[in-house]
Amino acid sequence: MKKAVSDLIQKVLMVPPKHFTVEYAINPWMGGKVDQPKAQQQWDTLKEAIEKQGVKVLTLDPVKGLPDMVFVCNSGIIHDKNVYLSKFRHPERSGEEKHYLEWFKSNNYKIHGDNYSEYFEGGGDACFSDYKTLWAGYGARSNKSVYEKVKEIGDFTTVICDLVDPKFYHLDTCFCPVGATSALWYPSAFSDATQKEIRSRLPDAIEVDDKEAAAFVCNAITIRKDVISPIGVSEKTKQALSKLGYTVTEVDMSEFMKSGGACQCLVLKL
Ligand code: ARG
Repeated sequence: MKKAVSDLIQKVLMVPPKHFTVEYAINPWMGGKVDQPKAQQQWDTLKEAIEKQGVKVLTLDPVKGLPDMVFVCNSGIIHDKNVYLSKFRHPERSGEEKHYLEWFKSNNYKIHGDNYSEYFEGGGDACFSDYKTLWAGYGARSNKSVYEKVKEIGDFTTVICDLVDPKFYHLDTCFCPVGATSALWYPSAFSDATQKEIRSRLPDAIEVDDKEAAAFVCNAITIRKDVISPIGVSEKTKQALSKLGYTVTEVDMSEFMKSGGACQCLVLKL
């Protein structure tokens, strides 16, 4: 049986929200004024929920003028000690790239993707359920063809996922692996072909409804047997998760949702 990433994960990287604001709109959710102390509190609560599962949280210093750097999951995708670096679609976020590169270098990652023509937004669009299966989203942000290159970081199957709804602009807004055979997912964010692929590869996958999708429930992060999610998981979904042996920890992510992000976006799995 394939080992789930959620069971193996030991370390993650997070960026404190000191300079987090909403200053531009590059996705349909962005808008509103961020309550900074509240954002800090929500971020701390998420960090504690992760640490409670025995996972070490490393931090990278935020940079003034890069308000979305808090969403460090977009910095790249990691497989063992290899990282494939992101290249952001929007110039508003390109300035983050050099800070991530520096961190990866000084933490001894083997660097891949330091020069390529496509766009790729790292863990926002790509994630492993087990280390032999990469879920590879493309559409609003990453280009499909980049995954031919991302392959070089390891030996795994790449499952291309077509994202068809502009509201669900990153894979992690509509898909969250739960163990090696399940996920929380929002079917209508995907093409018919991708829906079929998800159903066949993840027989225990749990569909969320419109309301849960809008509450960013799929932007959860599974660690061990806990699904850490934004508030809004329905009783039905909780029961379905419980049947598979998972509990749910809901954390208020209201401030980060003003930027179109939540739990999964704030955390890079190392
Ligand atoms: N405002 C950020 C952007 O649009 C949010 C990124 C959220 N990150 C994610 N992994 N979905 O780029």
